Amino acid sequence: MPVITNIDDLKRLHKKRTPKMFYDYCESGAWTEQTFRENVTDFDKIRLRQRIAVDMEGRSTATQMIGQDVSMPVALAPVGLTGMQRADGEIKAAKAAEKFGVPFTLSTMSICSIEEVDKHTTKPFWFQLYVMRDQDFLEGIIQRAKDAKVSALVLTLDLQILGQRHKDLKNGLSVPLRPTLPNIANLATKWQWGLEMLATKNKSFGNIVGHAKGVSNMGSLFTWTAEQFDPRLDWDKIKKIKEMWGGPLILKGILDEEDARRAVDVGADAIIVSNHGGRQLDGALSSIRRLEPIIAAVGDQVEVHIDSGIRSGQDVLKATAMGATGTYIGRAYIYGLGAMGEAGVTKALEVIHKELDMSMALCGRRNINDVDRDILLVPEDFA
Ligand code: FNR
Repeated sequence: MPVITNIDDLKRLHKKRTPKMFYDYCESGAWTEQTFRENVTDFDKIRLRQRIAVDMEGRSTATQMIGQDVSMPVALAPVGLTGMQRADGEIKAAKAAEKFGVPFTLSTMSICSIEEVDKHTTKPFWFQLYVMRDQDFLEGIIQRAKDAKVSALVLTLDLQILGQRHKDLKNGLSVPLRPTLPNIANLATKWQWGLEMLATKNKSFGNIVGHAKGVSNMGSLFTWTAEQFDPRLDWDKIKKIKEMWGGPLILKGILDEEDARRAVDVGADAIIVSNHGGRQLDGALSSIRRLEPIIAAVGDQVEVHIDSGIRSGQDVLKATAMGATGTYIGRAYIYGLGAMGEAGVTKALEVIHKELDMSMALCGRRNINDVDRDILLVPEDFA
C-alpha cells in the first residue's frame, strides 16, 4: 500500500485504479479549462502569515455550517456519477463523511438513490437538486428528500444548460460503461473496479430511473435528461422550490454580487460561491477571487460558502480567513474514493484536516472561529 500524504497522492492512485472514462469525467473542465486551472492556481497566490510564540495547545477546527455542527468547515460537494468511480460510491462517501463529522451532499445525478443513502447512514445528509422541467418529478424528489434524513437542500443554479467537456465527448462517456475495445483494454488494468461493480446492482441513476415518467432504462434516461435541465429557470421558480421544500436552503453557483443579493431576497440560508469546479462557464473568474466581493455585498445577511479549487487544508484556511463560513471539496474526495473507496474518502478528509489544523496553528490561531483576514497576505490586484 503506497504512503498517502496529500491529495495529489490520492489523485495519482485514482487515475491508476479507475476506468479512464470516469477519471477523465472528474479531472476535466469546460472548453479550454482555464477556469478549472485557475480555481487551483489562484489559491496559491494568497500567502499565509507565519506567527511564533503563541500558545498552540487545545486547538479546534470544529464550527457550524447553517447551524449544524461540523468537525471542520468542509462539506462533501455534490458530484454526479460518484457511484461509477467506485461501486456504491455515494454510500461509501456518505459513511466516511458521517464518521468524520462533516456534511455529505448527494447529487441529483447520483447512482445510489436518496433512499439507498438514507438506509446506509445514521446521520442527516444534504441533497442537491437540479431544477428540472418535469414538475411531477420535481415535487416527487423534494418529497423523497423530506421523507429521508435530508437536513438541507442545495439548489444548483449554474447548470441550466450543460457545459461541454471535450474529454467526455471523446471518451463516449456512458453509464454503464459500454464494452467497446478501448474500454475493455483499459478495464484489464482496473480489475478491482470491475470486480466491485459486478457485485453491485446500482449502475443507473437511482434518483431518476423508475421515478421520472417514462424513464425505465438508460436509453429513455438520456433523452429525458437532455430535455429536463430547465433553461427557463428564474427567481420565481427558485422561490417556489423554497416553499415546496420548507427547510434550510443553500443556493449553489453564485459568482456575482447581483445574484448574491437576489439569493438573499428569496431567503436562502446560505450561498455557495462556485463556478461548478470550472465545468460550466470557461473564462469565469475563480471562486476564490469572487469570494471577498460577494461577502462585502451580502456577508452580513447570509452565510457565504465556497467551492472550486480546494485541494488542501491551507486552501480551506485561506477561504475561512477571507470570511467563508463553509467550504466544499469535490474532486479532492473523489480522488480518494477512486483510489481506495470509503477509506480513501476518509484519507482525503484526514489529510485536509491535518493541513488545516497545523497551518492554523502556525499562523498563530488555536480556534477556527478566530481565524480572520489578518493571517493572510493577499496581492493587491487579487479581487
Ligand atoms: C461536479 N459538480 C456537481 N455539482 C452539482 O451541483 N451537481 C452535480 O451533480 C455535480 N457533478 C459533478 C461531477 C464532477 C465529476 C465534478 C468534479 C463536479 C460540481 C461540484 O459540486 C463542485 O462545485 C466542484 O466539484 C467544486 O470544485 P472542486 O472541489 O472539484 O475543484
